[in-house]
Amino acid sequence: MTTTTHGPGIVPAPPAGSEQEAREELVTTQVVASFEGSPNERLKEVLQALTRHAHAFIREVRLTEAEWEAAIDFLRRSGDITTDTRQEFILLSDVLGVSMETICVNQPATGDVTEATVFGPFFVEDAPEIPQGGDIAQGAAGEPCWVSGTVRGTDGTPIPGARIEVWEADDDGFYDVQYTDGRTAGRAHLFSDQHGAYRFWGVTPTPYPIPHDGPVGQMLAATGRSPMRAAHLHFMVTAPGYRRLVTHIFVDGDPLLASDAVFGVKDSLVKTFTQHPAGTPTPDGRTVEGTWTDVTFDVVLPRATGTTEA
Ligand code: BEZ
Ligand code: FE
Repeated sequence: MTTTTHGPGIVPAPPAGSEQEAREELVTTQVVASFEGSPNERLKEVLQALTRHAHAFIREVRLTEAEWEAAIDFLRRSGDITTDTRQEFILLSDVLGVSMETICVNQPATGDVTEATVFGPFFVEDAPEIPQGGDIAQGAAGEPCWVSGTVRGTDGTPIPGARIEVWEADDDGFYDVQYTDGRTAGRAHLFSDQHGAYRFWGVTPTPYPIPHDGPVGQMLAATGRSPMRAAHLHFMVTAPGYRRLVTHIFVDGDPLLASDAVFGVKDSLVKTFTQHPAGTPTPDGRTVEGTWTDVTFDVVLPRATGTTEA
């Protein structure tokens, strides 16, 4: 028999085969059975499994009534702080790895398909369009970074006209929407050219914390976890007939790669950002004051479900 040590005030697990164990398991059986008549098979499957796992969790940790109350209060406070622009429940899902696990299950990245990662709360619809070689920074502070690559299908076919949305925080770790002056900076979209290639200027990504002034931040602090995200640049790539890709690229050598607050880092998404000394000519002849970096990111999209490789 496995014995688990729990803290004071915790009612120990009943002996295997005891009347108390049967009493605890009966509640689970009753709730699972209550969904038996659901006309929606999928809802039934999900809710019965949720019940089994939630009850097993309560029995495993011997959840106290005070802890149950604290959990309810946590959810209430998460609701209170949630607005149209602040979604504490998604943040909770992110820091528990629930978002990444859902992405992993739903977006298999077999072969050289580009891996997906979390969406995050800072995407904005209708960001300005820039031409090939344009600058997404639009005044966002930071070291200039030349980003280029290709968008292809899994058979290597270039995908022209793919819509590439990019967004990132500035050198101070803030997205434009976190400022109160209504600026649009550090975000744009562009389209891959006839060879499936793209290129643009941004700023070299820097690390920043997820919003941590609410219940999720308190949970991280209480457990000694950092709210910091590894430095990254967000991408969303869409093309007719292909699966939408939401991902980031990360900076090789960033010490935060191993402790990203939302578990978004995948080895395949860690890229070399090469720094060039001041005065080094840039790929497009732009004059840059000080150092600049460059990075290559080639995107491979699988066909959308129900379509086949052309
Ligand atoms: C972000 O990358 O911007 C982000 C992702 C998840 C939670 C918070 C922020
Ligand atoms: Fe981000």
